[in-house]
Amino acid sequence: MERLKVGVIFGGMSSEKEVSLNSGRNVHDNLDRDRFNPVAVFMDSRGGLWILPWQLISQNTTIDISERLEPEARRIGYEELPHTIDFAFLALHGKYGDDGCIQGLMELLGIPYTGPGVLASALGMDKAVQQKVLEASGIRTPRSMVIECAVWKSGREEVEKAVCSAFNFPMVTKPTREGSSFGVTIVKNPGELAAGIEAGLVWDTTVLIEEFLEGVEFSSIVFEGECGPYPLAVTEIRPQNCFYGYDDKYMPGKCRKFTPPKNIRPDIVKIIEKEVIKTFKALEFRSYGRIDGFVLTDGSVVITDPNSSSGMAPSSFFFEQAAERGMAPSMILTELIEISLRVHSRKKGPL
Ligand SMILES: Nc1ncnc2c1ncn2[C@@H]1O[C@H](COP(=O)(O)OP(=O)(O)O)[C@@H](O)[C@H]1O
Ligand SMILES: [Mg+2]
Repeated sequence: MERLKVGVIFGGMSSEKEVSLNSGRNVHDNLDRDRFNPVAVFMDSRGGLWILPWQLISQNTTIDISERLEPEARRIGYEELPHTIDFAFLALHGKYGDDGCIQGLMELLGIPYTGPGVLASALGMDKAVQQKVLEASGIRTPRSMVIECAVWKSGREEVEKAVCSAFNFPMVTKPTREGSSFGVTIVKNPGELAAGIEAGLVWDTTVLIEEFLEGVEFSSIVFEGECGPYPLAVTEIRPQNCFYGYDDKYMPGKCRKFTPPKNIRPDIVKIIEKEVIKTFKALEFRSYGRIDGFVLTDGSVVITDPNSSSGMAPSSFFFEQAAERGMAPSMILTELIEISLRVHSRKKGPL
């Protein structure tokens, strides 16, 4: 049987390119060689695509790779991609990666890919718009307010006054479209508010102010089965810092994670499972997604961060939850590719 040529696309143009490198090489290394022929496709910081030789995949940073692209890798134009791969495993994160841009390119090229389509990926990225869609579907999200850069620049004091009258401290400031906790600040008092807003505006033209949620954070990978979406498992997150920041997410030995949860009652875990499925459907996610949220001290479930892709490093939620279901990395990757192929074979127009 011809093995399917799976292009694992990683790197990219976003703040999360290093996270993507970790995801991409792990996916590349764990694809079942009996079924798939993996092709490492590196996206450089200008969106150019390169076919990497094996030696470059194990580099430590995307800069290390970039410096060796010209002599050692093969540059390919977008239009050549369909002649090189049959399927795209998208291991890109952040802007241009899981926000609908690369998904649109794959649609134009006729290449089936992992994860949601153009609109759902864009919704997964934009925290302000996704909250409106989720609220309209009866899913609880944090109380929030959007601050536009131009409004902030033209009247800081008025904005600060409006925010302080609408929210108690601590509150959370974050860029509307980012990931990996870039630009997220827990603002503890009025003196820290301006810096929090500015930190968010580094990454986007709008900032979201959110009420601070007190409780236990969770994450759940959701797969699209033949009979509808189902959660792989639920993981309880116990950051070592005051919130789940970049170091907690990616530094070895930092964050404690419990799959299944240790400190969330089984009946609440059932509610989480229902809410993550509802969220998956409300945002029209396809093939898979990762839905994050909080269980508040009164037991209610709030959805904070639905993601249209998930980190794919060895200890990520994706592989931890797959393991809980008895699936080794290569098995769950095969499952995801099969689901994605099925979903794309049935679509009419872009996914
Ligand atoms: N409203 C909130 N209340 C309490 N903690 C929050 C809130 N929003 C975010 N956080 C903390 O910040 C982390 C990153 O925020 P998140 O919205 O998930 O952004 P990202 O897309 O960068 O992951 C979360 O995992 C959580 O620990
Ligand atoms: Mg998050």
